[in-house]
Amino acid sequence: MSFTYGSDDKSGEQARFDAQKIAFAPIMFQAAKALRDLGILDYLMKNRRKGALLEDIARNLDLSEYGVKVLLEAGLSLEMVKVENDRWSLTKTGYFILNDELTRVNMDFTNDINYKGLFHLQESIKNGRPEGLKEFGKWNTIYEALSELPENVRKSWFAFDHYYSDDSFPEVMKYVFKDNPAKILDVGGNTGKFSIFCAKHNRDVRMTIVDLPGQVAEARRNIEKLGLEKRIDAIAVDLLDRSVALPKGYDVIWMSQFLDCFSQDEILSLLQRVYDALDENGSLFIMETYWDKQRFEASTYSLHATSLYFTAIANGNSQMYHSRDMEKLIERSGLYLDEVIEKVGVSHTLFKCKRKP
Ligand SMILES: C[S@@+](CC[C@H](N)C(=O)[O-])C[C@H]1O[C@@H](n2cnc3c(N)ncnc32)[C@H](O)[C@@H]1O
Repeated sequence: MSFTYGSDDKSGEQARFDAQKIAFAPIMFQAAKALRDLGILDYLMKNRRKGALLEDIARNLDLSEYGVKVLLEAGLSLEMVKVENDRWSLTKTGYFILNDELTRVNMDFTNDINYKGLFHLQESIKNGRPEGLKEFGKWNTIYEALSELPENVRKSWFAFDHYYSDDSFPEVMKYVFKDNPAKILDVGGNTGKFSIFCAKHNRDVRMTIVDLPGQVAEARRNIEKLGLEKRIDAIAVDLLDRSVALPKGYDVIWMSQFLDCFSQDEILSLLQRVYDALDENGSLFIMETYWDKQRFEASTYSLHATSLYFTAIANGNSQMYHSRDMEKLIERSGLYLDEVIEKVGVSHTLFKCKRKP
């Protein structure tokens, strides 16, 4: 199967305009964020019937007319606002920047986690390390740092992570619980959201979370608050250490948005450890967002950008994968792809894998 994507059929004029959008992207991103965070978009939303005069916006928001003027004019080029007879109003794009949760989560993630660190993208590519992470401190990967990052950064990271996976959990229950598993291993279980969801969904199932110490400590706190500690266990391990085996005796091993945190070589090692841990009746479920499986161009665009977060900030060697990358690794690990469930949640695909006989 050959690899063919992309097209080049726009006019020269359009192509040159698009090149300028790229050339000025960081400036225009900050303009959009300022229009949102300084309350200008919100003011326009509230005055959408008649539109608003620039002076009124400035006075009501306690900003200078100069400041509001330069932002609104940038907003014209961003197609976030329009002006008719001196009255400014929101466009559909402006509406989404203000009100759409997906857009807000992505913008905060870009700004709070990535913006400064992406200055180190080229070094990261050359060195194979997340050089941008040093903007926050000295760590090898962001996963070691998660529990210690500043609160606003943590908030944006978790909002981004949870936005994508939370919606999918209810949808996957029928697949995960199809064969009535008694024990499920939630690898990369983070703060316990999936395990808690499963424990509430099925009163008999026993869950075990495996994650790094910082995340396990937070998961334990969440589990205790709900009194679920007899049904949800949590083990702190670093799975980058290839000598760490996955525990045996589980009917289902669950990995959600987990394997994209690893290089292809590391994924192979993790899948081989799944192979060693499962018996012939067990199943591995992998829930991922593959860039080739998206229904919307906007999703593919977001995933290609997210890959570079992994390069410069998260770990320096992983990405949002093409489904074919993952299929090849599954095949090499001794497992096989038993079932593919498409269109789960916002953008997920669910792979069910078994041990080859
Ligand atoms: C992107 S989050 C996904 C969390 C959750 N499964 C979900 O779907 O929202 C990846 C998780 O993998 C964990 N992780 C990353 N590297 C790890 C490692 N070396 N050992 C154990 N867990 C790791 C992270 O701490 C984090 O909780």
